[in-house]
Amino acid sequence: MSEEFSLVKVNRVKDPKKLTDMEKKHIPVIKAPDSVKAKEPFTVSIKVGGIDGVEHPNILGHWINWLELYAGERFLGKAEFAPTVATPETTFHIILEGPAELKVIEFCNLHGLWESKKKIDVK
Ligand SMILES: [Fe+2]
Repeated sequence: MSEEFSLVKVNRVKDPKKLTDMEKKHIPVIKAPDSVKAKEPFTVSIKVGGIDGVEHPNILGHWINWLELYAGERFLGKAEFAPTVATPETTFHIILEGPAELKVIEFCNLHGLWESKKKIDVK
């Protein structure tokens, strides 16, 4: 039986067709256009978890501390969340100069780092 999560490396979805409950509540869900124009701002909305209604806890002892957005290896932004009073979702307005793979990494204080990606076509 494989481990449900790791504290020493970034966690990613193992089988997209068979998400575990741990994945459903920790994976950042990235909403962004599939295709954008170069050098024109567009919106990226991110919510951690909630896949199939499986929400991550948001209590003092267990919450999503922060998330970071990258285009490839390039840092674009970060959002931090206080437990119980902020839900782990945010919106960025970003500009791309060429095709990129957006990457979001989030940190849960109990279950470590979780990552998801979305390719953006830039014209
Ligand atoms: Fe967690």
